[in-house]
Amino acid sequence: MADTKVTLSGWELDNPVIPASGTFGYGKEFAQCYDINCLGTFSFKGTTREPRFGNPTPRIAECPAGIINSVGLQNPGVDHVLAVELPEMAEYFHKKVIANVGGFSVEDYAETCRKLDACDQVGMLEVNVSCPNVDHGGMTFGVSPEAAAQVTRAVKAVTGKPVYIKLSPNVTDIVPIAKACEEAGADGLSLINTLLGMRIDLRTRKPVIANRMGGYSGEGIFPVALRMVWQVYEAVGIPIIGMGGVRSARDVIEMMLAGASAVQVGTVNLIDPWACEKIIGELPQVMEEYGIVSLREIIGGAHHG
Ligand code: SIN
Repeated sequence: MADTKVTLSGWELDNPVIPASGTFGYGKEFAQCYDINCLGTFSFKGTTREPRFGNPTPRIAECPAGIINSVGLQNPGVDHVLAVELPEMAEYFHKKVIANVGGFSVEDYAETCRKLDACDQVGMLEVNVSCPNVDHGGMTFGVSPEAAAQVTRAVKAVTGKPVYIKLSPNVTDIVPIAKACEEAGADGLSLINTLLGMRIDLRTRKPVIANRMGGYSGEGIFPVALRMVWQVYEAVGIPIIGMGGVRSARDVIEMMLAGASAVQVGTVNLIDPWACEKIIGELPQVMEEYGIVSLREIIGGAHHG
């Protein structure tokens, strides 16, 4: 029988399929479509120290092979997440969850993580140093090895939970940043966040998105994400959660062969709310088709021999 289990920093997941932050909210709406307890886990919408209304609209531009978003880290703030969203979530999701954390200063990241550290439901902190949609903070920390390391150290100092740093693809070379996070104590890495992009409306001759630019995600970025997971796997010894344009069980396996220990699924949730359930359902059959007995055995498999 196909063994779909994977392990992230000592946390065993039933399968590697994890809805990505920002595409799954707190899971509530999806729990009305299917029993989301079939998921490995999920990463809930990025949380910041204070509530955020987000960017002006329009925030979304559709593209042939994905979408551009400029949401701007809209969320109700960490205190509300702890007091309301997580207790509610416990009623429909019975596994530990990944808390994605955004910030505008090193202190912001540390304070939000310190608060989330006290919550048993949180299995891991995914620290987002790669949001391209805010003027300061966000990606600013993820494009510099020193700044990414500083955030990593500050967060590690306030939590005993595994800390995964979510990296930006909007850099010349992702490897020095990945290595700096590992050296600063990161337990793992999540990659990639969205690629900075834009669209222009031919009628108005103006950018479609109010903020002009946004983060491009969806199937069009899969080869870029796969390449970066491959490069980072060659350079670090900590686990990688791979993401970017994943839509099928075959994509999950390809990401794992490149070096991912687990895989996040994002934009396709917005197209088909049942996408993750379908991917999990397909996995055993696709594993059998390619002679894979255990998913753990294929991590980084494309690098060997
Ligand atoms: C956003 O809220 O703008 C998206 C978050 C991200 O891309 O990191």
